[in-house]
Amino acid sequence: SAEELDRRILAAKAALGDRALVLGHYYQRDEVIRYADYVGDSFQLATAAKARTEAEAIIFCGVHFMAETADLLSGPEQAVILPNLAAGCSMADMADIDQVEEAWEQLMEVYGGESEDADGLMPIIPVTYMNSSAALKGFVGRHGGIVCTSSNATTVLHWAFARGRRVLFFPDQHLGRNTAKAMGIGLEQMPMWNPRRPLGGNDAQGLLEAKVVLWHGFCSVHKRFTTAQIDKARAEHPGVRVIVHPECPMPVVDAADESGSTDVIRRAIEGAEEPTTFAIGTEINLVQRLAAAHPQHTIFCLDPVVCPCSTMYRIHPGYLAWVLESLLAGEVVNRITVGQDVAEPARLALERMLSAKP
Ligand code: 13P
Ligand code: SF4
Repeated sequence: SAEELDRRILAAKAALGDRALVLGHYYQRDEVIRYADYVGDSFQLATAAKARTEAEAIIFCGVHFMAETADLLSGPEQAVILPNLAAGCSMADMADIDQVEEAWEQLMEVYGGESEDADGLMPIIPVTYMNSSAALKGFVGRHGGIVCTSSNATTVLHWAFARGRRVLFFPDQHLGRNTAKAMGIGLEQMPMWNPRRPLGGNDAQGLLEAKVVLWHGFCSVHKRFTTAQIDKARAEHPGVRVIVHPECPMPVVDAADESGSTDVIRRAIEGAEEPTTFAIGTEINLVQRLAAAHPQHTIFCLDPVVCPCSTMYRIHPGYLAWVLESLLAGEVVNRITVGQDVAEPARLALERMLSAKP
């Protein structure tokens, strides 16, 4: 029962004390978030994993790529545990490392290889969204590239354009397009790489004129949001503030009043002094939690059909109880480790992000 699980989790956490640190992403359900020592967006959780070096285990209530990142940034003796190994991210899975390697080879044929031009710029700098495998982060690190999250994508693109003529952006086409557009880059300079076709299917001239080559990935949760939902919210709630996550399609971001990471959304609501109506375009668990925490405001999700991230939802309190109790019994289960060959360049790409200055 829920009460029994609650008792078991609290008992195991109390017995473990500082030995275990439980991290929770905003999209986790409340039944899991209530046990988190630290809650945040993917950037904040990565920095939390880096900072809290005293815990021998980091229990990551989030998805697989976040746990991999925590493993990369935490100490070598620390174990990062993902309570349910089936908690992946469909977007991260859309950038398969073999496809990426193949695309890179073909791009190098177009750009004449990896060397600086007379201005000291590389032909293209690979940038990957945090929502990607460690293997892809490693690839990016090996090719002079960098990681970004939804809270620092603009800063990271500036970093990349200081070093290269173009950017190859993985895996989220929407975050890439929305960020580049806000920097003044035209849509005609953002072709999308099509992995299903040989190079001939991609327009070589278009690739030469590109500023940002987009990968074809997307988030199945955020692609559901539409401008029709925004029109409806504005018609029904005059004065509504519409805030969406930048993983939403470009027309949705354009039609919204603001866009930003999960933490930007949280701060926008916490900073509102007058009672306000907010229509939010992001995962439902965060929207419902914000609504419950701010009864002075009216807060609802743009999508009337409940849209949880199904993989985030795979972290059930039952798994949390199991991994904590195993730890207490001296057994580390569901440990996430990134192999050394990948870890070194992946860490480099992450460290570049952490030290990139706006
Ligand atoms: P944040 O970086 O905003 O936490 O988003 C992570 C994510 O998976 C969004 O879908
Ligand atoms: Fe991946 Fe989307 Fe879920 Fe975020 S909300 S973890 S991008 S599937």
